[in-house]
Amino acid sequence: MFLDLCKKRRSIRKFTDKEVSDEDLNYILNCALLSPTAKNFDSKKYIVVRNKDTLLKLSTFKKVNSGFLKDANLAIVVLTDKDIAVNTYSQDASISATYIQMAAVDLGLSSCWANVLEQKDAKGEFGHNVIRNILSIPENYNVECVIGIGYANVIPREKKELDFNEHVHFEKF
Ligand SMILES: Cc1cc2nc3c(=O)[nH]c(=O)nc-3n(C[C@H](O)[C@H](O)[C@H](O)COP(=O)(O)O)c2cc1C
Repeated sequence: MFLDLCKKRRSIRKFTDKEVSDEDLNYILNCALLSPTAKNFDSKKYIVVRNKDTLLKLSTFKKVNSGFLKDANLAIVVLTDKDIAVNTYSQDASISATYIQMAAVDLGLSSCWANVLEQKDAKGEFGHNVIRNILSIPENYNVECVIGIGYANVIPREKKELDFNEHVHFEKF
């Protein structure tokens, strides 16, 4: 059930050395390609990074909270074309990134989102430009996030559920 996947999904930042198969990677990417976009515009692109040196470089795109990328088996960089999805490039990318994370859980894989927007590296460079340079991403692409994926090296606790009545309102706030 989808609810079980939602409970199982946790942000995991420590991974084993086990390879994510091409078959599993393709499954994840095919799920991502099915995510909705505003006006059904074709705005999404993905860059898959498996190369260890590139993962190491990517892991420093911001000062903190991206170091886990160097230990991921692979990373998917989620892009959207700002010229195509002028007002919704961030939403289109975020929804797609969520599909990636849920597809990963579905396969018994784990992942973590590294946020790019407004982030800077240790030299004060914008993270999106650091990533752009490493991966030759054209200027018109929004670099929304980098999702590190692999097999968990820790046993995550089940997601703590928020109180339903406190968070859900019917008809009025
Ligand atoms: C939009 C967004 C940005 C995030 N950025 C980062 C990040 O840059 N680095 C990181 O380690 N985790 C990041 N996370 C993971 C969150 O810290 C994590 O989802 C949150 O603590 C809840 O834990 P859970 O995912 O295990 O439920 C991000 C998550 C989201 C949804």
